[in-house]
Amino acid sequence: MNTIIEPFKIKVVEPIYFNTKEQRLQRIKEAHYNAFLLKSKDVLIDLLTDSGTSAMSSNQWAGIMQGDESYAGSPSFFRFESAVQDITGMSVVIPTHQGRAAEKILFSITGGPGKVFISNTLFDTTRANIEYSGAIGIDLVCEEGKYPHIPAPFKGNMDVVALRKIIAEHGAKNLAMVIMTVTNNSGGGQPVSMQNIREVKQVCVEHNILFFIDACRFAENAYFIKIREEEFKDKSIQEIANEMFSYADGCTMSAKKDAFANIGGFLALRTNDLAQACRNLLVITEGFPTYGGLAGRDLEAIAIGLYEVMEESYLYYRITSMEYLTKKLVEAGVPVMLPAGGHAVYLDAKEFLLHIPSHEYPGQALVCALYAEGGVRGVEIGSFMFGKYDDHGKLIPAPLELVRLAIPRRVYTQSHIDYVAEVVIHVFKNRQSIKGLQIIEEELLLRHFTAKLDLID
Ligand code: F0G
Repeated sequence: MNTIIEPFKIKVVEPIYFNTKEQRLQRIKEAHYNAFLLKSKDVLIDLLTDSGTSAMSSNQWAGIMQGDESYAGSPSFFRFESAVQDITGMSVVIPTHQGRAAEKILFSITGGPGKVFISNTLFDTTRANIEYSGAIGIDLVCEEGKYPHIPAPFKGNMDVVALRKIIAEHGAKNLAMVIMTVTNNSGGGQPVSMQNIREVKQVCVEHNILFFIDACRFAENAYFIKIREEEFKDKSIQEIANEMFSYADGCTMSAKKDAFANIGGFLALRTNDLAQACRNLLVITEGFPTYGGLAGRDLEAIAIGLYEVMEESYLYYRITSMEYLTKKLVEAGVPVMLPAGGHAVYLDAKEFLLHIPSHEYPGQALVCALYAEGGVRGVEIGSFMFGKYDDHGKLIPAPLELVRLAIPRRVYTQSHIDYVAEVVIHVFKNRQSIKGLQIIEEELLLRHFTAKLDLID
């Protein structure tokens, strides 16, 4: 049999509200050509993010009913703590309301002016939290990761030679930590190999630098290691995850991704060194250490989801679905990042819209065109999200202009994905009619969430 069937049955459904292209053209104009400002009921297939958008399982919903809402010492916390300890091998487990809350706590303590954080690629909120503390973030993705069309097994890897160079330049004592993002979300959802994790860890040990994992998509990364790194082909996903985490001094996690939860996250630490300072901040910003920013029921859903996400039948279906959509697009000549990422398909907007230069935001123009044509909402990961200005107010473009179509976990079926492919291919065939955009209003930090744009005629 060739058909990959979804490894679940559907028990509860939600409606999709249909609208016309004319209505969508009006909606995106009213949203100032920023898809974050659309109302979700006006979206047909929502691929804005895979974060917090998962369908929970019947077991997770059963767990929700078992949630114990005691302020202190809830059994739900101990089930959550034990799942996190079992998977990460880290003894200190601090629940937070989502990933960025864990980052904020960690970087408030380890960051500050003069400090440097190095990553394969920092996610936008991660970078923002680092910069907000006064520190700087440096991305050192490997060379293969910089070319969207050239396939390679581990394009999320960190450039170890560059890492040594940057440490020498800044001085090890100024390095707050090295953060490995698995999979590398902003770099195309590409995985990091165990080999690379080991090499980076080695450099950190030599220079006495903390090594952390941004673990949002740890199970997807572990699956790629299993199928692409010979040494791991007979290992279970949990064994691989255990080894990945064994090299880290700590990790931050958004349970909204690889834990199938609609909210939640945590900070885990191997030793008690930073634990007290982190818990002190937790108490004033999130909550008491046995619930952090979460209800007991959320802790239960996460504890169950963390194991469900490591099931191989699920991961096989998950990764194969990304390949399925990627293949359809490639066959139609659409420029996409290769190979397929773990949680999303990334369109190369620079190649897609050759007639739109970076300072007219080709990725954002493509996001708007996909919405108008078929009600499909993606997100720009390019100069609109990451662009900065030089001293003369000229845009310094991001290295890549991507549009991410992130697939929520266990939510859409193959026919939804077929429809998405049709929409993208239709837009590609008519790409010459797409116009560039200009920003007319923006904030300094994370401007892509709120900025207003207009069409350039
Ligand atoms: N790190 C990575 C790699 C992420 O992808 C995200 C969130 C976070 C940290 C922050 O976690 O949202 O729970 O606070 N990514 C979402 C996305 C929002 O759409 O990729 P959070």
